[in-house]
This record gives sequence, C-alpha cells and structure tokens, in this order.
Amino acid sequence: MNTTETINKIIAERRIIKPEDFSGEIIEDSTITQIIENAHWAPNHGRTEPWEFFVFSGEGRKKMGQINLAVYPQITPEPDPAVMEKLESRPLLASHIIGVCMKRGINPKIPRMEEILATACAVQNMLLTAHTYGLGAYWSTGSYTHNNAINHHFGLSEEDLFLGYIYLGKMDKANPTGKRNQTGMAKTVFIK
Ligand SMILES: Cc1cc2nc3c(=O)[nH]c(=O)nc-3n(C[C@H](O)[C@H](O)[C@H](O)COP(=O)(O)O)c2cc1C
Repeated sequence: MNTTETINKIIAERRIIKPEDFSGEIIEDSTITQIIENAHWAPNHGRTEPWEFFVFSGEGRKKMGQINLAVYPQITPEPDPAVMEKLESRPLLASHIIGVCMKRGINPKIPRMEEILATACAVQNMLLTAHTYGLGAYWSTGSYTHNNAINHHFGLSEEDLFLGYIYLGKMDKANPTGKRNQTGMAKTVFIK
C-alpha cells in the first residue's frame, strides 16, 4: 500500500469509540507520547501553536472526574444524579484522557477563531494517530466543557477555550463500520 492509499484508509476507518467499549488495558507511555507529538504537527497560523494538553491517567482520572463534578452542578439549575454518576465513573473506563485546551498564542494578530481551528486540527491528528495504534478514542464534550466555569481548572483565561476530553483506551472489539451521508464529491462545488 502506498502513502496515499494508507492515509485514505486511516482517515476513512478512524471511528469514535466510546469508553464503554474499551478493554481496560493500559496504553504504553511511548504511545501517548507519539499521540501528543503528532498533535504538535497540526497546522497553525503564525506558528502560535495555541494548544495545551492535560493527560489524566491512573489516579489522575479521578481528578478529572472531580473537575467535571465541580463544574456541572455549578452551571446546572437541577443537576441530574445519573449525569453526576457518569461524570465520576466514566473516566475510570479509559486508560488515559487528554484534556484539550486552546490557549491563545503569543501573536495577538492571529484571530481567536483560527487558534480554535488549529487546536481542532491537533485533535484530529491525535484521533488518527490513536487509530493507527488500534486504540479507541472518544472526543467528549458537554455543557460542563463548553462553559467558562471550567477555565480555572486548566489555568485558562476568558480568551482561551476548553475543547473537551479525548478518552483513550485499548479495544478488544473490531472497529465499527463508519457512516457518512455525504461521500465522494457531495457538498463540493467545482468552479472551472
Ligand atoms: C467537536 C466534537 C465534539 C464531539 N463530542 C461528542 C460527545 O460529546 N459525545 C459523543 O458521543 N460524540 C462526540 N463527538 C463525536 C461524534 O459523535 C462522532 O464523530 C460521530 O458520531 C461520527 O462518528 P465517527 O467519527 O466515528 O464516524 C464529537 C465530535 C466532535 C468533532
């Protein structure tokens, strides 16, 4: 398989895998290092590299749960006990969880939106890399991640943005088949 065929396959076969489908095995540190390394190669305007990652593992996964357990009731008029339970238990299904932050780079001329886009590119690099290792990866967001109330837990200012958590785990199941409504040249306008 040549490089083009390989990347086509990796992109199409990558799936979001929920933590409930992880095997519980621990991912090697060298793999996590490579996933983060590949994140840094994301395109970013002005080389501001406007991201910061927090890797939760072992007992640290409980700390991540505690952050969300603090934020969710703070921003929710009537917190749902089932949600609270899941916020606490779900991190423990993962081997590692990466908290993804957009942290404004050093060049104020670069629009904030571009810093967010660059960080999302870094996430895709991580998801694709995790897939090549045969890992499950899940991008998790919610009211508690999309709220400035989470900022101080990650040392973020109002200009920065928390983009959610990437749950990572080994899998003992086959990768599911993906589905897209648009394929091929759909949603593409050619102007010649
Ligand atoms: C910004 C962003 C946030 C996401 N947040 C969630 C989430 O909170 N819960 C969830 O089930 N999936 C989440 N996803 C994953 C999508 O649900 C997933 O990509 C979609 O179901 C398609 O699956 P596939 O990527 O495996 O083809 C998120 C994806 C993106 C890009």
